[in-house]
Amino acid sequence: MPEAESTTSTASGNPMELLREMVSFLLAKRVLSADDVRRVLKLQGRIDRRFGSLAVLKGYVSPHDIIYILYKQLDSDVKAGDVAVRHKLMTPAQVKEVLLLQTNPARLFLEILIRTRTILASNLQLAMREFYKQKAAAGKVPAGHLMDVQDLIKPTRQSRLDADSLKFQLKRLRELAALPGVVHRVLGLLQNPHVEMQEVAQVIEGDPGLSIRLLRLANSAFFGLSSKVGTVHKALITLGVKNVQKTIITASVLEKFNAIGQQEAGDFWRHALLTSRWTHRLLELRNFRGELLDDGVMAGLLHDTGKLAIWQYFPEANAEIKGLVKSGAPTEEAEREVLGMPHAEIGAFLFQLWNFPAGLLQAACYHHASTAVLGGLKDMTPLTACVNAACRIAHLPVIARPEADGGDEGGEMLDASSLDQEFLAFHGVNADALVMAAPQVMSEAEEMLSSFLSQAPAT
Ligand SMILES: [Fe+2]
Ligand SMILES: [Fe+2]
Repeated sequence: MPEAESTTSTASGNPMELLREMVSFLLAKRVLSADDVRRVLKLQGRIDRRFGSLAVLKGYVSPHDIIYILYKQLDSDVKAGDVAVRHKLMTPAQVKEVLLLQTNPARLFLEILIRTRTILASNLQLAMREFYKQKAAAGKVPAGHLMDVQDLIKPTRQSRLDADSLKFQLKRLRELAALPGVVHRVLGLLQNPHVEMQEVAQVIEGDPGLSIRLLRLANSAFFGLSSKVGTVHKALITLGVKNVQKTIITASVLEKFNAIGQQEAGDFWRHALLTSRWTHRLLELRNFRGELLDDGVMAGLLHDTGKLAIWQYFPEANAEIKGLVKSGAPTEEAEREVLGMPHAEIGAFLFQLWNFPAGLLQAACYHHASTAVLGGLKDMTPLTACVNAACRIAHLPVIARPEADGGDEGGEMLDASSLDQEFLAFHGVNADALVMAAPQVMSEAEEMLSSFLSQAPAT
């Protein structure tokens, strides 16, 4: 980062004025073209200037760390930076740097110049050195006119939510989406691998709704138990501790979001089950075995939980998001604008609130992340990578099989032609293998759907 101290807001009094002088100088020196400036300022107009987003932009923390910071901030007035330092997510120097970016548009401008590789950091550093040398000598930028930066900035959509209103929304979500105490007690008990199943069963039976959903899930094709179970205790014994945890988590999400319209519920669970089966298959293709496969089944199934929360708890916001998407905005951008967070992060936030396993939280948080973002994560797990790929594959269209390819059989096949090489290479799969695997994955998902859909609506 060039000339750290020189770009503080105190260097020129008015931070906007400093940006104006800087742009003018860089243009006059032909270090940047007017097009460069326009593009970078446009980008700058779209950047979310909340602390967390800027800390992510700088690469100091990952988005799921921000979820944790927001969660920790809910009941206190402690600033995000202080939470980050207290929990050792950032150093005080990094917090200072982010606060500078937040308050100083000139500094943010330079940051974006470098991040977008509009100019080499070393060249920019040289130019800025000269800029400040001239400023020091003359007390102002000597040559050229001052360009009207405001004219260049054409802000596009940007989140209307500041940190306080996001906090308000998240508190609302916490109230609305609280899980019954039974679920917390059961998950707490299951932390002990030697827990008595009789004790766990008694707690679960205290909640008849949860007991029914648990039994239905245990008996559904989803778990594929060889024999039917009739009591909670029998279900727990048959499933085993690890699967009980997964069943309780799944059953509690189903129970929580039982007020979704039938059409939406059908589409939702079809995609969720398809993602779940694809996650399982991708993990298998990467030679993972055992418990991770079961984790994948659950993480794939629940990756879009944030969407359920938007539908059920924020119907007006949902209508607004739909309107923006209809007018051409990408879903994630529309959700961020209206709610301050895309559904992936809302889901991750809920999992944080509910104290669900960290792997589940990470997988939900990054299921729409680009391979560049995934590749940049310090602690990305195979689960996160596979859920990300599975969600995208589950959205691929199914087309009529070309005649030459299908011989006399005809039928349908997965159209994987939109998957780019970068995606395939990152996830270590090839398009042909996916097309080959698709019929079985799709039929597994379809088989589970009917038994699953009877779980979703309120009973
Ligand atoms: Fe999603
Ligand atoms: Fe998805």
